Amino acid sequence: MKIPSRIVTTAEVEADWLSAVADLKASHWSYSKDSQIDWFHANVSANDRHILVQHGRDLVGYMHLAQRIATADGRPSHIVGLSSVVVSPTFRRMRIGAQMVAAASAEIAAAGTCCWGLLQCSLPLVGFYAHHNWSVFTGSVRCRDKSVEQPFVRDDCAMVFPEARLAGVLALVVDGKSF
Ligand SMILES: CC(C)(COP(=O)(O)OP(=O)(O)OC[C@H]1O[C@@H](n2cnc3c(N)ncnc32)[C@H](O)[C@@H]1OP(=O)(O)O)[C@@H](O)C(=O)NCCC(=O)NCCS
Repeated sequence: MKIPSRIVTTAEVEADWLSAVADLKASHWSYSKDSQIDWFHANVSANDRHILVQHGRDLVGYMHLAQRIATADGRPSHIVGLSSVVVSPTFRRMRIGAQMVAAASAEIAAAGTCCWGLLQCSLPLVGFYAHHNWSVFTGSVRCRDKSVEQPFVRDDCAMVFPEARLAGVLALVVDGKSF
């Protein structure tokens, strides 16, 4: 089944959509709906984008596309961070997740060569992203938030896209908190 998806700005995630996003995220991550909404207001920027997959009146897929500045071995870049990737439990294995990753990857591929994508995931999901040509990044990835530097990865690994734009790079530093 092909369920249409759309990419929207943060301003377009109005209150009822934000409520649906929080419900969907709470279906997988053990944070309350209120804390998901608070997190959104505290961490999502006006220039971030969001993929919404809607079936009838229901939100069945969501992905946050964080727009960040980073450096790759000191070279400034614009990055798109994929986070909060989630599909409603009853709609899983229907290629909605694949559709969202493909849409995000197409945007990154179409952007300039100083743009690349970054995400973190657990080892069982590496294949899911690798199917869309995301690659495990074996160098160091750190976040610098208000001059405090910390590892980017809480989960098992960082993945990047497209790998060719980071050929030979050993160290990535992302402005702001991890996502
Ligand atoms: C991960 C997730 C977004 C995948 O979405 P989905 O719509 O179910 O995935 P798709 O139908 O597009 O799957 C495409 C392929 O990816 C692989 N895949 C999908 N989910 C997977 C998972 N959880 N683990 C490993 N591989 C997976 C499968 O090979 C699948 O192919 P198949 O149809 O032959 O089985 C969904 O399972 C989900 O919301 N999980 C909970 C939240 C989460 O873990 N998010 C990821 C954070 S990094």
